[in-house]
Amino acid sequence: PSGAYKYFINGDWKESASGKSVAIVNPSTRQTAYNVQACTQAEVNEMFEISRSSQKQWAQTPLWKRAELLKKAATLLREHALPIASCLVTEIAKPSRDSMTEVIRSADLLDYTAEEGVRVLGQGKILNSDSFPGNGRNKLCLVSKVALGVVLAIPPFNYPVNLAVSKIGPALMAGNVVVLKPPTQGVVAGLHMAQCFHKAGFPKGVLNVITGKGSEIGDFLTTHPSVNCISFTGGDTGISISKKAGMVPLQMELGGKDVCIVCEDANLDLAAKHIVKGGFSYSGQRCTAVKLVLVHDKVADELVSKIVPQVQKLSVGMPENDCDITPVISETSANFIQGLVLDAKEKGAKFLTEFKREGNLLWPTLLDHVTPAMRLAWEEPFGPVLPIVRVQTVEQAIEHCNKNNIALQGCVFTQDINRAIMISDAMETGTVQINAAPARGPDHFPFQGFRDSGIGSQGITNSLEMMVKTKSTVINLE
Ligand code: G3P
Repeated sequence: PSGAYKYFINGDWKESASGKSVAIVNPSTRQTAYNVQACTQAEVNEMFEISRSSQKQWAQTPLWKRAELLKKAATLLREHALPIASCLVTEIAKPSRDSMTEVIRSADLLDYTAEEGVRVLGQGKILNSDSFPGNGRNKLCLVSKVALGVVLAIPPFNYPVNLAVSKIGPALMAGNVVVLKPPTQGVVAGLHMAQCFHKAGFPKGVLNVITGKGSEIGDFLTTHPSVNCISFTGGDTGISISKKAGMVPLQMELGGKDVCIVCEDANLDLAAKHIVKGGFSYSGQRCTAVKLVLVHDKVADELVSKIVPQVQKLSVGMPENDCDITPVISETSANFIQGLVLDAKEKGAKFLTEFKREGNLLWPTLLDHVTPAMRLAWEEPFGPVLPIVRVQTVEQAIEHCNKNNIALQGCVFTQDINRAIMISDAMETGTVQINAAPARGPDHFPFQGFRDSGIGSQGITNSLEMMVKTKSTVINLE
């Protein structure tokens, strides 16, 4: 339909034959900000066909040339950072400064991917047969890395640009083609980002972007026989995707209940600063946000006294004004968060700041004396709500951390490095940060969730290595 953003297929911007569109609601105003095409299953089929037929030639494009194109896309992203960031402000209510940071970080990610890609993918290896018992030296195995084929990339609403390029960059660098399904909120930023790839000169069909309703094309995309790899970041949907996906490599990140363990010997000023930043940046809507503080009873009062004034200082308002706390992504999300807070209230949690709500805007809420009986001790609010559980021993904190099935990251504050390493070893999460809040970046670090938090490791190098398969050619010498 005219007036709606077009989708991107085979190097062209097109309207869907459905004649329908999907409304993108601004979380701050709760009004429709944009419309995008509601693509059909037939259009998904066409996109996969085009992707498949473009892949072979793309994989034969020299690696240095692929790197050059990625770098061009990075330059264009930087040049157009402002309009892309302003889409993020409108679609996902991300504060304007953080929105700019996301776009610039994405350009840096692409540059790094290009540089890392030429080295990681540019090297194969040779194996001699005589290292295995019973063999002579008559066989040489040449091992190289070849593309998987078509990568389906599904990023989440909270980083629609950065978590798109973290999938697209390594996939394209490795000679794959990409079908991108942007999140509903954040889709317009994703389309603008795709235009940067287009203008950079990527061949037609190498990157395609489909938009539409999950109910119409969601399962159809993820179970499509042309998909050779799925890279997904998001919520529980990932679990059902992984159950239905066929024999394709999966890279999934499904969130986390990231705990922050504060030991009795911690630098409490440092811990308080990181807890507030980690808990409340982008209003807690990060998989790596601090989602539960587990503090030793001996220092709990002092820690709380350092956290409260910092939370009270957080500015609450609109993303355009660069406030610290901005409206959460949707009414559904605000209702869910409110439900968790009410549950904690009924079960006796102590409110250190008042819970207030206006539309999708929730005031930062700090809850003390949270107990394991409360949902907030286990569930991920994905909002500006931070629960504090007081523990008698560090072992109790570790036990709580390991009982939770969503295990992405965690952090520990102590001034004893030996103890920190022992605690890190005992915490069954993908990453443990010592004396800092959880964070995915720098973007080349490995990033993996344990248990229900994911499958496979991300980070630039790991993604490059994951998005290829091993090809061996054995020379049998006479
Ligand atoms: O929310 C997903 C996760 O990737 C967050 O990234 O960089 O804010 O730690 P970051």
